Amino acid sequence: MKTILVTGGAGFIGSAFVRHMVTTYPELTIVTYDKLTYAGNLDNLLPIKDAPNHAFVRGDIADHEAVRETFQRYSVDTVVNFAAESHVDRSILDPDAFIRTDVIGVYVLLEEARRHGIGRFVQVSTDEVYGDVREGFSVETDPFMPNSPYAASKASGELMVRSYHVTYGIDTVVTRGSNTYGPYQYPEKLIPFFATEALDGRPLPVYGDGQQVRDWLHVDDHARGVAHALLHGKSGEAYNIAGEALRVNLEVTRLLLSILGKDESLIKFVPDRPGHDRRYAMNCDKLKALGWERRYDFEDGLRATLTWYQENEWWWRKIKTGEYLEYYRRQYAERLAAGQDVSS
Ligand code: NAD
Ligand code: TYD
Repeated sequence: MKTILVTGGAGFIGSAFVRHMVTTYPELTIVTYDKLTYAGNLDNLLPIKDAPNHAFVRGDIADHEAVRETFQRYSVDTVVNFAAESHVDRSILDPDAFIRTDVIGVYVLLEEARRHGIGRFVQVSTDEVYGDVREGFSVETDPFMPNSPYAASKASGELMVRSYHVTYGIDTVVTRGSNTYGPYQYPEKLIPFFATEALDGRPLPVYGDGQQVRDWLHVDDHARGVAHALLHGKSGEAYNIAGEALRVNLEVTRLLLSILGKDESLIKFVPDRPGHDRRYAMNCDKLKALGWERRYDFEDGLRATLTWYQENEWWWRKIKTGEYLEYYRRQYAERLAAGQDVSS
């Protein structure tokens, strides 16, 4: 392994992986390939901007020509695919881009990888492919039961990866991460959205009864989990990367408000997300057996993350303009108008 193509490396988790790999393995060349959609942000790569072993290419994973040219120009021998449309609520408003990137984009990467010939292909996937897990913990052999267009698009991408492994013998590894939080996360997902809204004293729209359960994983633990699967995973296998920190949404919201010193009156219960999965929970013994372990506990990780958002307003204030405000209006204006206070 000499040259790793990291697709989606300007996004939240991809950029954490790029920063980790560039600094930990100076002998490797890391090529970030990213379309820079609304979620892609070159500010996420500022900490490694002068690294001699990193290059950035702006491109779409669904564009055969551009992908082929990049494979050839950099003699790519390894692919780690983070590129995706990644937000459930946007997939409910507008599923189109999810099919293009999360399904067709994965196919294009696999096809170019097959023609060019590569060592290993890592597909970064999600616990959402297992669907709603009312009790127990998902293991890697469980069936897929995706419920949102986002989850279905990720499950479809994984199935393409499986078929290229079985049919063409490509060396593939899949990772399935749980809900991830940390610095540089686009402020549409629960924790960075609520943190930045609370800092401005604005309402926090909790969907439904707020009793849904998510399993929280720090982004650095997720990025190191993907690196571990890349280096030590067995070809053709999938690995769950879990935070093993199951928390109810309302509990996370209250904790976030108390750490920031903000009042619970900011909480607004709003109409639920359609098809909202009640609970995600995974078993990650398989990756642990390969030697991966987490470094963050949820409460400490959340505290450190909230401090980062407090100290890095330069990063998120410029995001919360333009397209973001249009999305906010579509997603939240009516919901908040129909919302109820915590006391009522
Ligand atoms: P993100 O939305 O922050 O970043 C996605 C990145 O992909 C952006 O930089 C974007 O510009 C890029 N991109 C989108 N479409 C592209 C295209 N067609 N071609 C090239 N680049 C494109 O997402 P994230 O939260 O960092 O998630 C990264 C991966 O991890 C995704 O595959 C996601 O499904 C998976 N995942 C995320 C979580 C989570 O909680 N955020 C949990 C488990 C798995
Ligand atoms: P999210 O960060 O969108 O991740 P996912 O849907 O992939 O789990 O949401 C996490 C949880 O928080 C999920 O149960 C939906 C809930 N949620 C809200 O209650 N209000 C919000 O405004 C958002 C964005 C999420």
